[in-house]
Amino acid sequence: MKKITLAKSCLLFIVLTACCTVYSQKNLPQLGKSPVSEIVKAMSLEEKAQLLVGTNKRVPGEISEAAIRGRGAVGFTGTISRFGIPGIIMADGPAGVRLQPYFIDDKKISYTPTAWPVGISLASSWDVNLLNEVGIAFGNEVKEYGVDILLAPGMNIIRNPLNGRNFEYYSEDPVVSGYIASAFVKGVQSNGVGTSIKHFIANNQEANRDKVNANISERALREIYLRGFEIAVKNANPLTVMTSYNKVNGLYTSENPDLTTTILRNEWGFKNLVMTDWNGGSDVVAQMKARNNIIMPGKTSQIEQIIAAVNEGKLDLKIVDKNIEEILNLILQTSSFKKYNYSNNPDLVGHAAIARNAASESMVLLKNNSNKALPLNTGTKVALYGAASYETIIGGFGSGAVLPSYKISILDGLTNAGYRITGNLKESYAAYKAKTYAASAYDQIPEMEISQDVINQTANDADVAILTIGRKSGEGGDRQVNNDFNLFDVEKKLIKNLSGAFHAKGKKIVVIINAGSVIETASWRDYADAILLPWQPGMEAGNAIADVISGKVNPSGKLTVTFPMKYEDEPSSTNFPGTPIDKPTEVIYKEGIYVGYRYYNSFKAQTAYEFGYGLSYTNFNYSGLKLSTSKFKDKITATLTVTNSGKVSGKEVVQLYLTAPEKTLEKPSEELRAFAKTNLLKPGESQTISFQLNPRDLASYNTEQSSWIADGGTYTVKVGASSRDIKLTKEFKLAKDIEVEKNHKVLTPTITINELKRIKQL
Ligand code: BGC
Repeated sequence: MKKITLAKSCLLFIVLTACCTVYSQKNLPQLGKSPVSEIVKAMSLEEKAQLLVGTNKRVPGEISEAAIRGRGAVGFTGTISRFGIPGIIMADGPAGVRLQPYFIDDKKISYTPTAWPVGISLASSWDVNLLNEVGIAFGNEVKEYGVDILLAPGMNIIRNPLNGRNFEYYSEDPVVSGYIASAFVKGVQSNGVGTSIKHFIANNQEANRDKVNANISERALREIYLRGFEIAVKNANPLTVMTSYNKVNGLYTSENPDLTTTILRNEWGFKNLVMTDWNGGSDVVAQMKARNNIIMPGKTSQIEQIIAAVNEGKLDLKIVDKNIEEILNLILQTSSFKKYNYSNNPDLVGHAAIARNAASESMVLLKNNSNKALPLNTGTKVALYGAASYETIIGGFGSGAVLPSYKISILDGLTNAGYRITGNLKESYAAYKAKTYAASAYDQIPEMEISQDVINQTANDADVAILTIGRKSGEGGDRQVNNDFNLFDVEKKLIKNLSGAFHAKGKKIVVIINAGSVIETASWRDYADAILLPWQPGMEAGNAIADVISGKVNPSGKLTVTFPMKYEDEPSSTNFPGTPIDKPTEVIYKEGIYVGYRYYNSFKAQTAYEFGYGLSYTNFNYSGLKLSTSKFKDKITATLTVTNSGKVSGKEVVQLYLTAPEKTLEKPSEELRAFAKTNLLKPGESQTISFQLNPRDLASYNTEQSSWIADGGTYTVKVGASSRDIKLTKEFKLAKDIEVEKNHKVLTPTITINELKRIKQL
């Protein structure tokens, strides 16, 4: 078969398009009016290839509106006017609609979105209603800025604290990740716009992310890395899924039909569209065959390759047609197709209030000495330390960055709330910043050295010291252990000296951790009276932090990731980011299913702050755990009462862990199976909480049988305030083993993985 060059194919496409416009409305099937199958039949191979590969104004005159708007977004698809197929628009990302300023006839057009708290922050609320509310407002901005698909949420498992993009992700646990993502996706999509849950799967590091091969056991894949996506797909029906850059067990995820067809479509019932990550994978034909419907953002060479592969019989036209059909089905649902008259004017003031509330509801109070360093009365005189108190880090960098019209620093927030900031630290930090920040906006700048004289002076003048430890991280690189995960020497010295000087005067020191991922805390936490973790809380950062510091909002966030005593305790620390260390091509997930608390609890390893942990300004009492039956048949309901036993109103995150019997497989000592957040309970007020457990909640993945098996035996329901603060337990029995679900034998590792084991022989 003769090879058609791109130039020729484009020419042919333009000619076809031009000739047909005159009678297109009459004779050609039109999207929305004719069945999709008729359009697929009528499209030329060249047109199909144009649609399968995202576009960047490839065909002159063809993408006008989409191209113009697309300049502010990140990707869009081709327009094929003769069938009434509009280009659609995609924009990042998890923390806000990432619109870049753009120009029309030299006029700068820039629309500013809300910068929401980052993923790890929102997840720390453990509040699906809140995520839904954020999703609704966020989705409204997607719609009103004329975008069709939001490239979010990011829901990779937080396998290791150093991953540069942890800020975009939710948790080390797939149940948290899955249900938080579901609530968000439902909220966004309730506006009639789409989401793209990403990155499917195992993009758990940035180091050599587009080449690295993640070697993961089938069980760890099923129970940990796939599970959150499975929950989101089944519960929230996202309109698109984005495959990841990396390989899993030897194949690029975007080129592996076992992942995107067998598991995603056949086992989970996904009916929508799959897209590649930006320039991900290496073989467009393999991607087509795997049913990655659309290649983003698309290269012209990929169009040629698709056309050639079909012509040479290497790619079945039926696969092309199926991919096209799903793209058209998606386009039919978009605002671009419906010609929605977007306003470019969403309610940013209203959304800022939601962002502020979401940020404060997500903060985790890690420490508050019994003498109650927090809350702090407004009007208190504060000595405000740390560069991030002045240049507060609202989110991470890379595609997950957002450009809002303003951001509230901690200084602004505390001032707005009525705190009195003493001394001239503000000026000193500004001068230091001007000198040091010239390097790069992304570099982690060491804190400014502060003399003992200045510290002593502020300890005299102020009532309290607040020190913010700031951390930046983002796409394209992982964090490092020293001077990032571990504090810089200058930070350690500052905490120690502040603590010495303020405590000598009977005054307190509060530390705020303004980071997108976990940092070391064990070596310095004793110097602080209180530690507040707002993560990277979005553009209303300072106001939200002041709300919690003042007690206007009682903190109710809890950790969705473990804070280890030291980095080396992390079960993945010896296998991250893989080998060779400077540009890893192989990473072996030797910790298997023992990710996060599954490891720390099962191996009884000490943590600084455990998964699920977080303090409140009040206390809660747990009582009356009842199970609907003591013998499990097809479901069981656990009910209990939570009472606010303290003096101020507050909310509690209630967690249900299950301990399963170990027959043929070893199992983590506790696994989170459900969670709920109470309403705002007044002192003395109670709320009844119910959880339902289904057969799948009892089951583990048995690799030999490729099945989810619930072992017969005794199960213990453990309800608690964290993974290590179990308040109530009750047992039930399962009479005999049940095969809950049979899966396909796919994604098999190509090497032997000597996984971490707790029990040598079962
Ligand atoms: C990121 C994706 C993002 C895409 C488009 C990629 O580099 O990995 O998360 O959606 O770019 O900006």
